[in-house]
Amino acid sequence: MQKGFTLWFTGLSGAGKTTVSQMVAKMIREKYNRNVEILDGDVVRTNLSKGLGFSKEDRDTNILRIAFVASLLTRNGVATITAAISPYRNIRSRAREMIGNFVEIYVDCPLEVCEKRDVKGLYARARAGEIKAFTGIDDPYEPPENPEVSIKTHEESPEECAGKVINKLIEMGYLTDNN
Ligand code: ADX
Repeated sequence: MQKGFTLWFTGLSGAGKTTVSQMVAKMIREKYNRNVEILDGDVVRTNLSKGLGFSKEDRDTNILRIAFVASLLTRNGVATITAAISPYRNIRSRAREMIGNFVEIYVDCPLEVCEKRDVKGLYARARAGEIKAFTGIDDPYEPPENPEVSIKTHEESPEECAGKVINKLIEMGYLTDNN
């Protein structure tokens, strides 16, 4: 069995987690012929975590559920990708312990840029007070202190960011050319 791993993307809403993670998934499938699963925050919240809100407690529950599923996939050799804000450092390190083969990707994009992009129009609503406890506005985001990879989506193209992630996976021995 091939070595499973979890790529754990973390970053603000609109930072580019979904875009880069989908590109990485495609590259791993096509070039390395691996089974890949993505657990995307927005998707998980419509099923596995349906009904949870955005209090610290609910976010932690959401992250622990994602980590649990990721741990099952990882131990079965799947190239697993998660893409949730996962704002709290503590719970990310719990996820790291639960999963083992854990590669943390900090999607580092300034709040101003995410807010200007405002892909879903949620920042405007948070500023208007229509959404409470919005990450980066009136709720915390704790950046990783020692991520395996940092990508700056406001300075590098999605392709460049995805390439960096792939290179790290090769360097760590999770992807090999003859897979
Ligand atoms: S997490 O904090 O529990 O990791 P998750 O990634 O699942 O968050 O969900 C974040 C998505 O939910 C955002 O991209 C956004 O579309 C939506 N959302 C709705 N309310 C909030 C909020 N208060 N804070 C952050 N994101 C929110």
